[in-house]
Amino acid sequence: MNKKYQVVKGFRDIFPPESFLFWQAEKLAREIFARFGYAEILLPVLESQELFSRSIGADTDIVAKEMFVVPDKKGQNLVLRPEATASVVRAYVEGLAQKGSAKLFYYGPMFRYERPQKGRYRQFWQIGAEAIGYAGPGVDAELLLLLDLFFKDLGLKDISIRLNSLGCKICRPAYREALVKYLKSNESALCEECKRRLETNPLRVLDCKNEACKAVTKNAPSPSAFLCPDCATHFAGLRKLLDRQKLVYQLDDQLVRGLDYYTRTVFEFQAPTGLGAQNAVVGGGRYDDLVEELGGNPTPAIGFALGVERLALLLSEKISEAELLAGPEAFLVFSGEKAYAFAFKLLFALRAAGLFADMALDEPLRSLRSQLKLADKLKSKAALIVGEDELSGKIFNLKLLGSGKELKLDHETLQRVAKVDWEEMKSHLSQPGFVYAGKEYEQALVQNQGLLKLLKIYLHELERQEE
Ligand code: HAM
Repeated sequence: MNKKYQVVKGFRDIFPPESFLFWQAEKLAREIFARFGYAEILLPVLESQELFSRSIGADTDIVAKEMFVVPDKKGQNLVLRPEATASVVRAYVEGLAQKGSAKLFYYGPMFRYERPQKGRYRQFWQIGAEAIGYAGPGVDAELLLLLDLFFKDLGLKDISIRLNSLGCKICRPAYREALVKYLKSNESALCEECKRRLETNPLRVLDCKNEACKAVTKNAPSPSAFLCPDCATHFAGLRKLLDRQKLVYQLDDQLVRGLDYYTRTVFEFQAPTGLGAQNAVVGGGRYDDLVEELGGNPTPAIGFALGVERLALLLSEKISEAELLAGPEAFLVFSGEKAYAFAFKLLFALRAAGLFADMALDEPLRSLRSQLKLADKLKSKAALIVGEDELSGKIFNLKLLGSGKELKLDHETLQRVAKVDWEEMKSHLSQPGFVYAGKEYEQALVQNQGLLKLLKIYLHELERQEE
């Protein structure tokens, strides 16, 4: 037997129906971004390694341990992007900065060499937005409210928001000093890595998942107590806007986020259950120094990224597979070669008219029973029977697969019904005694507008066949 290949560890194939959840999230995000004035930026997946060590920070987990490095033929180290904020800022400085501020969104895969587990993969998808060139707290509030709307529209009502302010390069040094002093007095309880971080990047200690370190950091000084007047005003301004909009959030002094570029506002959206340890669905914040750090003029900015796998996990608990995989409006069931030819033509006419139609296209031709079985398997709403009588125009024969009812129309009635305008028929049907084609038909037609379309196209194809 030939070798069987497997997907690379930590990478996944996203099969239907899960892929429908991704599509649903993407579709809604695109609609909302459009309403909020965010335009899409399409970014490369490969970037220079230095871009990320410079922006995310050399001493972060992402840069120190999780980069997929791809040496190119000239010996330069490229990496599969672990996130897209640095890429957006690079692209902004390179191609957009001269036009002023920009509100951008992106959707695509990111790569981090992490230990795979539920909700954590080595390739994962993010939907993200970045607003570059906006200093005031209005845009911070806008992004939080955008996300709130997104989750509510998806029916995810119990996502909680954690919010903090990390201050800026003016007030951070005093906080850093106080933090180092506190951590030094508890140094013996810290893990080896945090003892080292204490010297290189003490804020990262607050992000450590080690239980002993968490116990120490629980009582660490909080950044909000050290905010300079400008940062305090900014944070108070943001909170006022959110309170006015009645957005519920929790202040969280321990929230520092795992990337070094953040200043002032940071936030996370968390799921209550279902994701285990990986409960952060969205992470974001301000990075007011990053544009300058990457070669641009001093330009404030803020953004977020949402993990689509984690979102899909939450959605899958709410939406059943049946809801996701909507079956065809009509499945065409035929008997014999002539009927096959007619059904084949009809199939593409229906599809061209915007209907989801299907039929068995495999050879040899299947039996009627097997075709009906397939229609059921695909969750088709109706099976349209095409046999000799149907072809000769004697009868139109539709089986509603939910109820199992057979609806049959003679050619004359078919012609009459097919001429009717759907809106007109709907209003006539509410009048007692008005009959087009029998009660069951009318009910079916009212419940399923596609059926009337199907009828019209069927008749058209039938008449063309006769020509
Ligand atoms: P982040 O917190 O590293 O932030 O990632 C954002 C979200 O991506 C997380 O909350 C999570 O839902 C998802 N995520 C991260 N790593 C994984 C993984 N290994 N597997 C599955 N999902 C994952 C950023 O990436 C920043 N660029 C966000 C940002 C944008 N800040 C400002 N602008």
